[in-house]
Amino acid sequence: MAQHTLLTQRPAWAALRSHFQDLKGAHLRDLFAADPDRGTRLTAEAVGVFADYSKNRVTDETLTLLFALAGECDLKGRIGAMFGGEKINITENRAVLHTALRAPKGAVVTVDGKNVVPEVHAVLDAMSAFADRVRSGEWKGYTGKPIKSVVNIGIGGSDLGPVMANEALRFYAQRDLTFRFLSNVDGTDFSETVRDLDPAETLFIVCSKTFTTQETMTNAESARAWSLAALKDPASVAKHFVAVSTNAAKVKEFGIDTANMFGFWDWVGGRYSMDSAVGLATVLALGPTHFRELLAGFHAMDEHFRTAPFEKNVPVILGLISVWYGSFFGAETAAVLPYDQYLKRFPAYLQQLTMESNGKRVTLGGAEVDYQTGAVYWGEPGTNGQHSFYQLIHQGTKLIPCDFIAFCRSLNPVGRHHDLLMANVFAQAEALAFGKTAEQVRADKVEEWLVPHKTFPGNRPSNVLLLEKLTPFALGTLVALYEHIVFTQGVIWDIGSFDQWGVELGKALASRIVPELEAPAEPDLKHDSSTNALIRRYRQGKK
Ligand code: F6P
Repeated sequence: MAQHTLLTQRPAWAALRSHFQDLKGAHLRDLFAADPDRGTRLTAEAVGVFADYSKNRVTDETLTLLFALAGECDLKGRIGAMFGGEKINITENRAVLHTALRAPKGAVVTVDGKNVVPEVHAVLDAMSAFADRVRSGEWKGYTGKPIKSVVNIGIGGSDLGPVMANEALRFYAQRDLTFRFLSNVDGTDFSETVRDLDPAETLFIVCSKTFTTQETMTNAESARAWSLAALKDPASVAKHFVAVSTNAAKVKEFGIDTANMFGFWDWVGGRYSMDSAVGLATVLALGPTHFRELLAGFHAMDEHFRTAPFEKNVPVILGLISVWYGSFFGAETAAVLPYDQYLKRFPAYLQQLTMESNGKRVTLGGAEVDYQTGAVYWGEPGTNGQHSFYQLIHQGTKLIPCDFIAFCRSLNPVGRHHDLLMANVFAQAEALAFGKTAEQVRADKVEEWLVPHKTFPGNRPSNVLLLEKLTPFALGTLVALYEHIVFTQGVIWDIGSFDQWGVELGKALASRIVPELEAPAEPDLKHDSSTNALIRRYRQGKK
């Protein structure tokens, strides 16, 4: 395995460290006063995403040093390696090729000597044909009725992407089809999902890359039992269950006809899979044309990331700035604040993308890092968050870089709503950056003891991402933007962004505990005293 230079030993890192000492006390008010063009200069645009990053605690020198760091970390080479199908997911010995999922027909992307693009398009064509049949009512359930409800059963990357995309693009969806997403192993999720559905009109998509995930398989088995209880005949499963998976053997074992399986490949990570067959629920909702527009948006951002010089490269700029906050300012979280109700699940989607990818504590070479890596991502759609947690962002003790996401045109123009919504975006970013000084507060004739309470320190950074309208294409660009921000961060931090070993231990321990909860006789417990006592209490309590 290649030996990596420790990040903190790189010349650009040392230069950034000393630059940080100079800049940490600077206020955005002063940076703007010293550079009147800053608000138009520190912006970049990529395929319809306008990024204003001027309200960040950076100067030209900061950016120059960050670009130099990217150079020293060979970001360009690593981008080439990802797009070129090299096995950059080293702990699983896999290529990382979600970008091939949106490559146009005719493109060539080679993995192990084989061009994967024809297979990608064959699956897309199969998804489209299936979606057309369901949407038109041609696909009939076992009793001859058309499908009215679609339930996607999956978790993590096999849930969050489709949930987010179906919500984000609901404006474009076929409204006589109902979509539900069943993920939690909690029986309540199952019961509430199916309680008012008619089995004769319900299609289940069992969506699991591995087809072994405990939550998904448990829900799928309950769904099959629920469906069979009404439809009686095992032959009905073929009409009411389809699968999305890389594991044909397990799909068959479950009883789903592999003719109704939509495949993908081990070079697609779960959290990078919403544009693969995992997006089947999205194709069913939106139709093939809109789904292809979504893919075109992804691809346009991919091309920007792959080819634009770093100084104009939106994912690179935003990725590097987030490293600046995380590793130098010690910012532990980042807020993503979409000012569009349709994007209400976008922060939840981003949590898996960012945190499962960059929640890592060792370098690719296995050394423990001595700097902060992935931030905690969180957020809510505006303006709701303003009346909830923004107080802490404005006047609390923590530095929380924010991404505001907004659109110039509303899909639902109603009266003054959109201007009011957008006024809040601009006002929040302005207030965070510039705050309100004690002198300004005093000028409002406030009693002196109240002045500190009403003072806003400002100097709280944010990006504003402004797009024209929330279309399938625009959503594709946004998701790809964050995928590539995550990639940029991971390269700088020298961590493996494409594995997720951290979720394995809990899974293994849960499998060990299940029989201890279900055993009729008192089990011989060999955990720590706390876990043993909790298991005993649970066994008592459930009697
Ligand atoms: O949470 C761990 C994880 O492996 C995710 O990476 C993945 O998206 C999820 O579980 C679901 O996995 P599968 O699609 O194989 O059911």
